[in-house]
Amino acid sequence: MRPTRSRTLNWLLLMNILLLGSGGREHALAWKIAASPLLTKLWCAPGNAGIAREAECIALDIADHADVIDFCRRNAVDLVVVGPETPLAAGIVDDLTSAGIKAFGPSKLAAQLEGSKGFTKDLCSEFNIPTGTYRRFGNAADALAYVRAQGAPIVVKADGLAAGKGVVVAETLPEAEDAIVMMFDGGFGSAGAEVVIEEFLSGREISFFALCDGETAIPLATAQDHKRALDHDQGPNTGGMGAYSPTPFVTPEIHDQIMARIILPTVAGMKKRGTPFRGILYAGVMLTEQGPKLFEYNVRFGDPECQVLMLRMMSDIVPAFLASCDGQLKNFDVRWFPDPALTVVMAAKGYPGDYAKGTRIEGLDDAAKIEGVEIFHAGTVTKNGAILANGGRVLNVCASGKTVSEAQQRAYQAVDRIIWPEGFCRRDIAWQAVEQERA
Ligand code: AMP
Ligand code: GLY
Repeated sequence: MRPTRSRTLNWLLLMNILLLGSGGREHALAWKIAASPLLTKLWCAPGNAGIAREAECIALDIADHADVIDFCRRNAVDLVVVGPETPLAAGIVDDLTSAGIKAFGPSKLAAQLEGSKGFTKDLCSEFNIPTGTYRRFGNAADALAYVRAQGAPIVVKADGLAAGKGVVVAETLPEAEDAIVMMFDGGFGSAGAEVVIEEFLSGREISFFALCDGETAIPLATAQDHKRALDHDQGPNTGGMGAYSPTPFVTPEIHDQIMARIILPTVAGMKKRGTPFRGILYAGVMLTEQGPKLFEYNVRFGDPECQVLMLRMMSDIVPAFLASCDGQLKNFDVRWFPDPALTVVMAAKGYPGDYAKGTRIEGLDDAAKIEGVEIFHAGTVTKNGAILANGGRVLNVCASGKTVSEAQQRAYQAVDRIIWPEGFCRRDIAWQAVEQERA
């Protein structure tokens, strides 16, 4: 009998890929996809000045799904990779799939794991997934009565997507009350029409990533983000000012607990409910004294965590995307370089508040010459051959090293070669891991 061609061999077909997004996460994904021997052509919509080195950037409105589908048909796109959460929550994967175009990421219903905090909390209680106690509210009066009965600290969350700003960790009762009033007054638009009030969890916060195909979940890697704008975890919350991977605080035992108690029950629960989860499941986990507890899910790679994950990933990422889309993760394996990686975010002065755009950045080529260093762009444009800042978070200066301390040293050496007086960064990314290495 003639041997049948394995599915793996089908993947050896060369592919046209379209990546959606424009941040540092997408530059890192573009860099990794561009290294795949399976790639014929990579486009990115809308992209940025750094992504333009890896892909052809196209001005496509990714909120217009019909336009995206039209582009894919005209250019014989074989796979669409979706970076950010907004198009996922808007159902872009469903629309592409219905049009016969393969797309990596969760369906609209499965993306509720990020799109609705209440949805995730209810899933946790249904499937016994460890998380803080909570209640959902549709009006301010009941929510206020509840926080007054509970006391502070307590966490107030807008149910829907609020560009990473919908969570208020209230240290006092008045702060919690103000947050509730602000959310029900429309402070986050329709995202705050429902509010979740959650127990404050204390402990160390880590990011855990798993690749899922609806049935199987394989752990990718762990990371630690740095949410506050300033050194020593001071200042306002941001989208993330730096990250490193792996984090030593997720021991093999904690890793197994997170998989067994959080990730696997979630994937099984989503399947049981008829909304199987495919794509990247990113768990925000608090390592508490009672063990790891989930405080949020995201349905895509973290930014800036993705940047360090891509530096550490040894395997080709394209087969991993395809295995997720095709439900073939059961016997799949993703290999990693053991060396830690670290990224420092350079942001425009004023971020996360108001900041200037259009300031000139120099010294990038010189910075990239340092051993182990890779620079990903987050918010940049090219004008007359110069690189200009075009966002709040602007650059990711990444480095690998034999230790987190070495990666940190290399990243800051590179930062110091970048000439951008209007930018700033934290100088202490990975301080906890570096402290542990020195101990
Ligand atoms: P998010 O905007 O959803 O990423 O949440 C912002 C931050 O709020 C998280 O990174 C955590 O530091 C914090 N947070 C969210 N939920 C809790 C919780 N239940 N207890 C303590 N901190 C929390
Ligand atoms: N690093 C936080 C996030 O991507 O949501």
